[in-house]
Amino acid sequence: MDPLAGGTAELLRRYDRPGPRYTSYPTAVEFHAGFGEAEYRARLAEADARAGEPLSLYAHLPFCEERCHYCGCNVVATRHRDVAERYLATLETEIGLLARHLPRRRTVSQMHWGGGTPTYYSPDELERVFRAFAGHFAFTPDAELSIEVDPRVTSAEHVERLRALGFNRISMGVQDLSPEVQVAIGRVQSYEVTRELVERSRAAGFHSINLDLVYGLPHQERRGFKTTLERIIGLRPDRLAIYSFAYLPHLQHHQKRIAAETLPPPDTKLHLLALAIDTLTAAGYRQIGMDHFALPGDELARAVEARTLHRNFMGYTVQSARDMLAVGISGIGDVQGAFVQNFKKLPEWAGALGQGRFPVARGYALDDDDRLRRHVITRLMCNGHLDVREVERTFGIDFAATFAAELAELSGPDSPVTDGLLEVTPDALQVTTLGGMFVRNVCMAFDRHLREARAANAKPAFSRTV
Ligand SMILES: C[S@@+](CC[C@H](N)C(=O)[O-])C[C@H]1O[C@@H](n2cnc3c(N)ncnc32)[C@H](O)[C@@H]1O
Ligand code: SF4
Repeated sequence: MDPLAGGTAELLRRYDRPGPRYTSYPTAVEFHAGFGEAEYRARLAEADARAGEPLSLYAHLPFCEERCHYCGCNVVATRHRDVAERYLATLETEIGLLARHLPRRRTVSQMHWGGGTPTYYSPDELERVFRAFAGHFAFTPDAELSIEVDPRVTSAEHVERLRALGFNRISMGVQDLSPEVQVAIGRVQSYEVTRELVERSRAAGFHSINLDLVYGLPHQERRGFKTTLERIIGLRPDRLAIYSFAYLPHLQHHQKRIAAETLPPPDTKLHLLALAIDTLTAAGYRQIGMDHFALPGDELARAVEARTLHRNFMGYTVQSARDMLAVGISGIGDVQGAFVQNFKKLPEWAGALGQGRFPVARGYALDDDDRLRRHVITRLMCNGHLDVREVERTFGIDFAATFAAELAELSGPDSPVTDGLLEVTPDALQVTTLGGMFVRNVCMAFDRHLREARAANAKPAFSRTV
């Protein structure tokens, strides 16, 4: 496919604009300090009443020795191991506090450790974190236990220990294999380091191995990216994430080390995405939602077939535990219809816990309208499809009447429908193959908060959609 054929360059010009990635709806920019610790405690009490229902847990382990120039994650870059060691003690306090508020709700079907780089910690330290959870919570026999690692700092011992503890999914950062790109993004990582870790993880029995790539990085061009894709495909990871580079130097000051002029122009960026889609599908991978790919036997690929894919802050998933609890700085939970986010800075987070308080910085309680729109946006992001009748039955609404303005925006002149990105019938909304690249734009039509922010002329807080 040539993405710039048939007027697609024109589409790109019109649709490549700042927009959310919809890891949540409403997005984190709507969270506010009016939702605080008291509100969180109330939600936890409600969650506890659903005794026996499994939970999802997320732990943020934010440390990295150095910050990569492109990084958009919530990271503490330090070589001071004592800081990271103290973090563990505070994390144990937070896990204990959480457990005390959930005396009847202790079963876990999904746990994810993200970062930063969790394997910044030694195997013994990681075991300590695991024991802090396992001392209070019981994992279901088929629980998904996943961890993000940086191949540059992850040893054979790490891999063995994580498997022994029960971790069954591992996700590794790669980004790009081209030396010029690696220097420009401040992350030099040889192919061999990645290959060794993939092989080791497979031999240790991890049943899902994911690799992350990023497109839109400085100096990236088609030939080099194709080589990266081919070499990575040769490793046959079960899953691949291909993220669009979120470049927000006004918010992430360390990204200023990447000069805007070195970034590929929007049409090249679109070519890189199209190249990834083509190369991966030709190699047998199935596209999952917007930016993920999986081998056909993988459960994510099967969930797409069955249109049962879900999405939460951990990414795409086949499980949808109703309540997700997060510990660690900046962690975001999703509890009983509310989002809750911890303080992002170590002193505030540790300070609150030192006083026996939950370290809640802000949150957001969804109302009925949010719940409806969240359902619509999540379905579109996950499955590229919306069963209109199912939405009407679930929410007791007349879809065409409730979303008259949205449907008009999506179907007017120069719109996703006339541009062939979306098909609308009385029964369904279907994102087309071409529309897959612009699914965020389709979702944006249903985003009431974005509409209100635009009406108020607010400065965009999002990276570009392509
Ligand atoms: C927490 S990191 C993964 C683990 C480990 N820290 C590493 O980098 O290998 C999560 C992933 O987010 C992606 N990422 C980080 N910064 C990004 C940005 N600015 N734009 C898009 N993706 C980004 C990268 O693909 C990275 O692998
Ligand atoms: S290793 Fe991962 S989390 Fe750490 S700075 Fe680099 S991209 Fe960010």
